[in-house]
Amino acid sequence: MLLAATAVIGMAALIDTYREAVGTANTVSDRVLAGSALAIAERVVVAEDGSLEVDIPYVALEMLTSAAQDRVFYRVDGPPGTFITGYQTLPSIARRNPRGAVFGDDTFRGEPIRVAALERSASTGIHSVPFVVTVAETTIARQQLTRAILLRSALRLAMMILGAATIVWIAVTYSLKPLERLGDAIALRNPADLHPIEERVPEEVEGLVETVNSFMVRLAAALGALRNFTGNASHQLRTPLAIIRTQLALSARAATLEEARAAAREGDQAVAHAERILAQLLVLARIDAHAAPEEAAPVDLVALARAATADHVPRAAGRDIDLGFEGEGTQAVRAEPLLVGELIGNLIGNAIAYAGAGASVTVRVVAADEGVRLEVEDDGPGIAPERRGAILERFRRGADGATPGAGLGLAIVEEIAALFKGRVRLGDGAGGRGLTVSVTFPQA
Ligand SMILES: Nc1ncnc2c1ncn2[C@@H]1O[C@H](COP(=O)(O)OP(=O)(O)OP(=O)(O)O)[C@@H](O)[C@H]1O
Ligand SMILES: [Mg+2]
Repeated sequence: MLLAATAVIGMAALIDTYREAVGTANTVSDRVLAGSALAIAERVVVAEDGSLEVDIPYVALEMLTSAAQDRVFYRVDGPPGTFITGYQTLPSIARRNPRGAVFGDDTFRGEPIRVAALERSASTGIHSVPFVVTVAETTIARQQLTRAILLRSALRLAMMILGAATIVWIAVTYSLKPLERLGDAIALRNPADLHPIEERVPEEVEGLVETVNSFMVRLAAALGALRNFTGNASHQLRTPLAIIRTQLALSARAATLEEARAAAREGDQAVAHAERILAQLLVLARIDAHAAPEEAAPVDLVALARAATADHVPRAAGRDIDLGFEGEGTQAVRAEPLLVGELIGNLIGNAIAYAGAGASVTVRVVAADEGVRLEVEDDGPGIAPERRGAILERFRRGADGATPGAGLGLAIVEEIAALFKGRVRLGDGAGGRGLTVSVTFPQA
């Protein structure tokens, strides 16, 4: 691209040079042409009979012909209509300038010529007779001069472009070398190696390298979190698996059918627990897959919450918990119904699991200033305010070790809410007791 641009600029410069060369050649040659016309004019005299006579000084023409293979023509005319001597068909110039020669371009015998015309008058002492001397020459010498000037500047220009190209080539190659080294260094890296790039690079790409480095830091953090998560998840699954093994061994050694049945019951509970953890992990995987959802279609949060509440009624009844629902009409939010169902299910499940027998749990959907608010409220023991922030983390559990769980429920709630631009808040329950978890979604 640089070369193309330089070539275009060079072309423009060349056209300008050509114009100037023509101008220069004309100025130089015109002066000689005028001198020759003047030399002839000096020799025009008035004869005794009043007519004009001229004795052409051949040196006057000689100074022209010596230039090149140019041919020279002339004519001398007296007062309008009278031709005195020279080439009668030679074109002259009608325009006159009393102070000097006038010049023009024309053709004569099929060749281009340059014409100079000089008006003077010869005097007898009594009266003066005007006359015009016209001198013309072919333009070979001028063209040669023009061509020589043009050729030289074209040559100079070509060398300049070539030189610039070489310099650009060397400079670009040299300054891109560090980028190549950078590319090699990254290509050779171990995929797990996320420490910052320390290659020396040109100033212009330092910003890029900084961006890549900060990205690597974030990537390292994300990978670390993933490793931590995988470790935690497998640890969580190992516990029920170990229980199942123990119970299987016990039932194998059981002396009575009763003992074997008891072991099977324990094992079955551990399987249910493992199943629950797996289900939660699958939900988390589904959230990750949803990480950049296109705008979800609107769904009615009232209907979703009512259905989820109905699903939990038998379990609540089994624990002697009064589970109720409040909410009217429809409240549309943009969310994925399965994931929102999971969110509500986790909250109701927690309330049933931790509020304790005899508690009452209320699921509520209300319109709020900031959007649509879903609340799950209970009057159980709740969570101490200072522990509410941390309880949202994955695998974080409360003191209640008796209830089986992995500590993923509230993390799932928060991640699903974030996915659909919702916000989770933990507050006190009804009458200052228990816990209210509220999730506010923007209204669709
Ligand atoms: N309604 C509630 N009342 C009192 N404590 C609660 C309530 N909900 C949650 N908690 C406390 O918060 C902890 C974290 O809850 P979360 O739902 O994240 O995990 P989990 O219920 O222990 O396990 P999972 O839901 O993965 O089976 C619980 O262990 C419990 O101690
Ligand atoms: Mg839970």
